[in-house]
Amino acid sequence: MAADLSTTFTGIRFQNPFLLSSAPPTESESNIQRAFEAGWGGVVTKTIGLHPVVNVTGPKTKFLRADADSPHLSMKKRPGAALHSSWNWELISDKTLDWWVPRLGRIKKTFPDRPLVASIMAGSGNDTELRHWQTLAVACQDEGCDALELNLSCPHMDRQDMGSNIGKDRALVSIVTKAVKEVARVPVWAKLTPSTTNIVVEARGAFLGGADAISSSNTFTSLPLLDAETLEFEINVDGLVSMGGLGGPAILPLSLAKISELTQAFPDKSFSGIGGISTFEHALNYFLLGCGTVQVCTAAMLDSAIGPNVIRLLIQGLARFLENRADKGWTRVDDFIGLRRDRVVAQSRIRRPDEKEYHGGHEAAEGYAEPTAV
Ligand SMILES: Cc1cc2nc3c(=O)[nH]c(=O)nc-3n(C[C@H](O)[C@H](O)[C@H](O)COP(=O)(O)O)c2cc1C
Repeated sequence: MAADLSTTFTGIRFQNPFLLSSAPPTESESNIQRAFEAGWGGVVTKTIGLHPVVNVTGPKTKFLRADADSPHLSMKKRPGAALHSSWNWELISDKTLDWWVPRLGRIKKTFPDRPLVASIMAGSGNDTELRHWQTLAVACQDEGCDALELNLSCPHMDRQDMGSNIGKDRALVSIVTKAVKEVARVPVWAKLTPSTTNIVVEARGAFLGGADAISSSNTFTSLPLLDAETLEFEINVDGLVSMGGLGGPAILPLSLAKISELTQAFPDKSFSGIGGISTFEHALNYFLLGCGTVQVCTAAMLDSAIGPNVIRLLIQGLARFLENRADKGWTRVDDFIGLRRDRVVAQSRIRRPDEKEYHGGHEAAEGYAEPTAV
């Protein structure tokens, strides 16, 4: 049987499971149209809000690179260096909801069968802010958006009642999700911050509020490096910097750990994996741990702004993977989602040279009781 690259995620059919995540590649109508033309299975818009946003002076994103033959890490462009990560302190879309509304409608008219997910964000400090979430949700779904992604995860919002400040508070996650669910006619995905002690706690809050899926990860809270010569941060304005977000290859293993925690805690729920993906092999990690779709940002930014080569290779990689596994009877992504979820276990369950001497880090129990592994 021929490989079928399509998948259904939270009830929405995607022609392939590869989405552009909410970020500069999805900040305009022309970018989103180009993304669909290039073959992306779905697009999550740059986060749309109701409050005014003004970005910092100078660059909003820079790329940290590693040398092949030395431990040197720097944002300075130089030949032969490999991408380590992206670092950004860009806020949400600086365009208003009124700007977005006709554009969302036009994109849906041009690409009616291609899922367009509206990323939205408001505050959480009072009922007016909760109504803002509802205003955004209704406006976007009325234009035909197929799902809503709640940005509960931006790591550098000034307001204490926004972004990852919501995502760090399970009660607020729940309250905001519930407020959106009250008006939503389309699936609601909650995009959580990885910067918490136990992401399962906030995910539970989202599911209690009615979330249909969790997207993880947003960027990790981080700082750019200081230059050893100038003693200045490699990205700064007037010598000053604030917390920003790390993305790209460096966060792939970190984000996978979050996904593993999430999919083990909620094996029957839906997850969209994000973080450090630029090849099918990267994406495969997320599928095998239990994600139904994946999203890409940094790799697309570095590939003609919307990632035409990245999506071509992701699609080719999936098609080839399915062809090579035809003997297993695998014909679609669903056939291997979550297949390696249960391979992540407590350390005490990993085999040791002498099993009898190890009791999960505890002293051997005395007397007749069997030692219990933790
Ligand atoms: C410059 C930049 C802007 C971003 N803006 C948003 C945003 O508006 N909303 C959002 O939910 N995530 C935003 N993100 C986070 C990305 O969607 C994604 O979660 C993160 O970059 C990790 O994926 P990656 O490793 O493929 O870059 C942004 C990331 C970058 C680099």
